Amino acid sequence: MTKTGKQFIAELEQDFATLYKVADITTRRYFEKKPSQDDLLHYFKIRLFNERWNMVELSQAVANLPINTPMVEAQMLAKQAFDEAQHFMMVKEVIEHITGEECDLEEVGKDYGKKMPSQGVMILDKYGAQEDELILALYQFLAEGRAAVVWQAMAESIEDSYVSTRYAKIAKDEKFHSTIGRAKLEELCDSEEAQKRCLEMVEHFIWDLYENTCLSIAQVEEDLRIEMRASYGEPNRELKVEL
Ligand SMILES: [Fe+2]
Ligand SMILES: [Fe+2]
Repeated sequence: MTKTGKQFIAELEQDFATLYKVADITTRRYFEKKPSQDDLLHYFKIRLFNERWNMVELSQAVANLPINTPMVEAQMLAKQAFDEAQHFMMVKEVIEHITGEECDLEEVGKDYGKKMPSQGVMILDKYGAQEDELILALYQFLAEGRAAVVWQAMAESIEDSYVSTRYAKIAKDEKFHSTIGRAKLEELCDSEEAQKRCLEMVEHFIWDLYENTCLSIAQVEEDLRIEMRASYGEPNRELKVEL
């Protein structure tokens, strides 16, 4: 018998545990080593434009909604686009707090303004999520859920309270974005066909997000790489990073 969307998603969520754990521990280890100011700035500039791209792409997803989309659903997605705009502003403030001067977005944009594999948002483009509601919902559920874990780990690792309070707030929002994706996925994954497609996409997303952790935070250490392999087996493609 085909699982209901709710059953399917509840089971699927268990599969993310290792990926989330690896991202959480890698983040904590990175900040424990007290990165230099230059490293921190590089890191936050990647984050800055990732938030901006999330704002842009979510707005596009709102613009693409079919005319009969339930209003509540449209509002949720528009709220997410608004949250991403807030995050964009908050990360800019974090950068200004660190440097003590105004952040020139045009200048930073020259090096960081293009989508990069170190940004989760790359996934949206890679699979055309803006025009595909299942992929968008899966991105929200899985990638925003992982973002929440990483920002929470940062909020708990960074001593500077100006930075940590902002990231605690961002983490809370990303968690909310993840629940928006979850509700949509439960609705969409009510057939064997949709569930099969979802599982295929998860296999791609897992490795995209693993690469993302390595490229944006730090190379995942050996003990955690063993856990990745134990949970997910061999990657379905050649990775740009060590596994
Ligand atoms: Fe965000
Ligand atoms: Fe988000």
